[in-house]
Amino acid sequence: MKSKPLEGKDKEKKQQQVRPRVVVAAIVSSLGGLVFGWNIGGGGGTYVMPSFREEMGWPPVPAQGQGEQPWVSAQQGLITALFSIGAMVGAMPSGYLCDTLGRKKALILMSAIFTFGMILEACTFSVVQLCIGQFIGGLGVGALSMMCSLYQSEMAPDFIRGKLVTLLQLSIVSGILITAILNVYLAEVVWGWRVSYAGNGVFSIIMILCLLFMPESPRWLVSKGRIEDAKQVLTLIRMPSQVDYELHEIEEDKKKSDKDGEGKWSDLLKSGENMRYRLIVGVLIQFAQQWTGINAIMYFAPSIFSTFMETDTALWANVGLQTLNFLATFICIALIDKVGRRVLLISGGVCMAIFTLCVAVASSPIFFHMNTQPPTTNQVAFTIVGACGLYICAFAYSWGPIPWVVCAEIFPNKLRGKAMSVSTATNWLTNFLIAQLTPIMYNPSAFNLYGTFLIFGCCCVIMTCFIYVSLPELSGHALENIGEVFATFRSNSKVPCIRANIAESSGSDKSTVPGEEDLCLNDLSPRIMTSV
Ligand code: BGC
Repeated sequence: MKSKPLEGKDKEKKQQQVRPRVVVAAIVSSLGGLVFGWNIGGGGGTYVMPSFREEMGWPPVPAQGQGEQPWVSAQQGLITALFSIGAMVGAMPSGYLCDTLGRKKALILMSAIFTFGMILEACTFSVVQLCIGQFIGGLGVGALSMMCSLYQSEMAPDFIRGKLVTLLQLSIVSGILITAILNVYLAEVVWGWRVSYAGNGVFSIIMILCLLFMPESPRWLVSKGRIEDAKQVLTLIRMPSQVDYELHEIEEDKKKSDKDGEGKWSDLLKSGENMRYRLIVGVLIQFAQQWTGINAIMYFAPSIFSTFMETDTALWANVGLQTLNFLATFICIALIDKVGRRVLLISGGVCMAIFTLCVAVASSPIFFHMNTQPPTTNQVAFTIVGACGLYICAFAYSWGPIPWVVCAEIFPNKLRGKAMSVSTATNWLTNFLIAQLTPIMYNPSAFNLYGTFLIFGCCCVIMTCFIYVSLPELSGHALENIGEVFATFRSNSKVPCIRANIAESSGSDKSTVPGEEDLCLNDLSPRIMTSV
């Protein structure tokens, strides 16, 4: 069936209307984020729960000033590490699964594997069983963290793609917040730790059930030659006037890429269509997200704070941080498709660098010599918690959600699954390294708290510069046009522009003729180019 691109008014409508079905699909797949966040927030809090320690055969929580016995610390390290290792391993084949089974079946399969891991954890009676459950749960989370954003980006209309993929981060932080609050209460309940570990199994079961009613990605259907099925899905998720236009764009893209045969792993390293460049950007942005130091706070905030305040107060300060994390994510949802990815990443990176520097100064001897009167412990605690809170807000509107959004949009349809597997595995590998390195770095015999935060601050500066020079603005572009956006960005030494929103507000048309997109990007008068 031949489909024609739409003209004039119809194309304008394409940029404005959303069908509820597409929002429901984004919400359902974002349940994967809830599962992910629950695991980040849940596990660590159990180590101080008396019933958990008893079940694992560990001695009671050591008294203040006394450390854990080495074999207990080793088992704790293993339980935490196996989850991230599982996630890294799970991310690798996820692209292959998405390409062969389809996005929807792959999501269902990995949610089922995750649920199995959670069942093992919920009825754990030994460290070994818990470790196996953590690894299997990790396999599921690693795959889901990639598959959910991939599915969301392929279903979303261009002009709200950023918003819809950011829903994933919103559910990650909701998961972290729920477990931060629950852990305060679950500590008193005998089976509480089982909920901390495996409570998210409920969300993965809900996700499986809802996914059964969700449509397959139209882009995957076209890639398999199922044009009529893709058209049916587009009819469900786009306004009637948008269906033919988008189907045409996806089909054209497939015809072009079919000339080079099936997408192979080795194609990821080819320089054609800037593929290698795009892969490097995707991998580095995920690597850099972890080097912001976010998980040094996510995993260790209660223990860092408890060196300045009572344990209970430290746990509540952590709940406060997670609440900020949740609330500030809405800033991203509101702005990502308006001001673009670059502005948020760059401004967020600068703010994070400033606030990590504040934590470094407040926890260093310099702070004591800045005033005639040395600060009280309360003042130090207040400054550190305050700076961490501002840092988290900056992360939540920028480097938290946007690496996931960017990785879901920069790769061509044919290689998206494979390339996202690599970038997601990088995120989990770095996550694992940070979790292992942070306690070593914090140690007074190494860099101390201030040295550690100084390192993270420098990383924030470096990665902000990296975004400035390497990432074009992607906001508002069809996934099929991203290749041209990169080509233009790299061939053009000028800074890129956010053009889709401008075109939208001026009512101008978006070209479908290859090459014209370049003209728009390069030659529009500065009047309507927003330099970032
Ligand atoms: C990151 C996680 C982090 C979380 C915190 C996510 O985007 O990938 O590593 O713990 O944000 O909100």
